Amino acid sequence: MNPTDRFLVSLDNALRTVSGAVHAARPNPAGRLADEELGAGERQLSGALMRVNHVGEVCAQALYQAQALTARSDELRREMDRAAREETDHLAWTQTRLDELGARRSLLNPLWYAGAFGIGLLAGKLGGDRLSLGFVVETERQVEAHLASHMERLPAGDHASRAIVAQMRDDEARHADEALAAGAMGLPGPVRQLMRAAAKVMTATAHRL
Ligand SMILES: [Fe+2]
Ligand SMILES: [Fe+2]
Repeated sequence: MNPTDRFLVSLDNALRTVSGAVHAARPNPAGRLADEELGAGERQLSGALMRVNHVGEVCAQALYQAQALTARSDELRREMDRAAREETDHLAWTQTRLDELGARRSLLNPLWYAGAFGIGLLAGKLGGDRLSLGFVVETERQVEAHLASHMERLPAGDHASRAIVAQMRDDEARHADEALAAGAMGLPGPVRQLMRAAAKVMTATAHRL
């Protein structure tokens, strides 16, 4: 693909991600799991947590797109494209679950997408492939820890959300391992802290908005 094609593919991805026109390639891990009757409070909590997770996946789309766009090696580009396809599964599954719970997606998704895309572009343009991969490792590790914490917080009877979050947690751990194996450099401590702080703002906001 030439740069114009690449740009159009990215634009298409942004619009699909934000508008919700996405489809999973793998079966939904929730399958036909029957939910126990969730109380109103439990349903609301599940909705808020899954909205946060959906925002995380919106950001993952943006990050991987930006990095595929700036990747210097074809190998890295292929790697990013492949991981992005799995993130599309996550995006579609969390979206489906939000609908089932009667919860809405974050109103700020265009903003989250733009922010993550900007960070991805910056890392790719300024730092090159190894720094890009370093961002992937750190992001995936933080998301993995975050999803693990949701396994504690999601209502015990919400089997469908729990099945989705567990599968995502395992996938993110693998994405981090693969990026590390592909030559990721470690990020400096202050950058990691900044990412953690940004993630906190994002999760606190997306919990409500
Ligand atoms: Fe994901
Ligand atoms: Fe991931």
